[in-house]
Amino acid sequence: MNEKELILTDLLGCKRHELYLKNISLNKTHPSKVSGWSIPLDKKQSEILERIRLLRAQGKPLQYILGKTYFMGFRFNLTEGVFIPRPETEILVETTIETIKNKARSKESVKILDIGTGSGCIAVSLSKFLPFAEITAVDISKVSIDAACKNAKLNNVENRIKFIKSDLFSNLQSGDVSLSKARQKYDIIISNPPYIPRGDLNDLSIEVKCEPGIALDGGEDGLEFYRRIINRAHPFLKKGALLIMETGLGQGGFVKSIALENRNFKFVKVVYDYNKIDRVILLERN
Ligand SMILES: C[S@@+](CC[C@H](N)C(=O)[O-])C[C@H]1O[C@@H](n2cnc3c(N)ncnc32)[C@H](O)[C@@H]1O
Repeated sequence: MNEKELILTDLLGCKRHELYLKNISLNKTHPSKVSGWSIPLDKKQSEILERIRLLRAQGKPLQYILGKTYFMGFRFNLTEGVFIPRPETEILVETTIETIKNKARSKESVKILDIGTGSGCIAVSLSKFLPFAEITAVDISKVSIDAACKNAKLNNVENRIKFIKSDLFSNLQSGDVSLSKARQKYDIIISNPPYIPRGDLNDLSIEVKCEPGIALDGGEDGLEFYRRIINRAHPFLKKGALLIMETGLGQGGFVKSIALENRNFKFVKVVYDYNKIDRVILLERN
């Protein structure tokens, strides 16, 4: 949904398609408070709209003002301190779903680890589309883990995702030290890690600067989390398992080099988005 749609569906308490039906049926006979729309607002709704306009003018992201967003068609509630899910991350989720559906036999359980879960948007969406998946999701931020737990509940998948506050793998039991070795290892590790080079953080828009720095700061060259994940993922993955990560503009080749240097991974492919940006990288554990 675009901003206008998000605001109006929130104000009117209706679904996106109902908004268009209302707008068409009124046929522009009413004065408009939101440009391009002819839906009349009552006094309270107009006041709320003014408040939203004021906060937007100050640069606060709409998702924080409304306290929610949508990802893969599901609703996610947000508070400040939690990274706002981006549409491009849907490519990461779609690629993962497609890969699992092509690989796994139907109803076969697949173990997935989501690193840096934020709002829980990746873990929850995967759980909705892959009801047979066993998902663990970690984040270093307690605010994010709390939000992700609530979002799992909101989407009725709280019994299928385990949320753990952890600095990457540190609070997870490695497959190598467990008695039930195979069961502790994952078929897929998925991550949308912080990947903005530290030097670029100051140039971000006011909106993005409202988001937690810990979700954005990818270290000196933006690749710090790829190194840390690639160098530590091996004992947590089954042989032939996949590490699937979102990347930013031009990072695919660098992440591929990090993985090949590590020697525990084979490069599978890079998936590009509609703007031809290298958006997702798939690596296979040797
Ligand atoms: C770019 S955000 C992605 C959030 C969410 N997965 C999404 O796609 O919308 C990166 C996330 O990684 C978390 N994070 C940062 N450092 C971390 C660490 N050392 N261990 C675990 N999570 C971390 C942040 O708190 C943030 O939620």
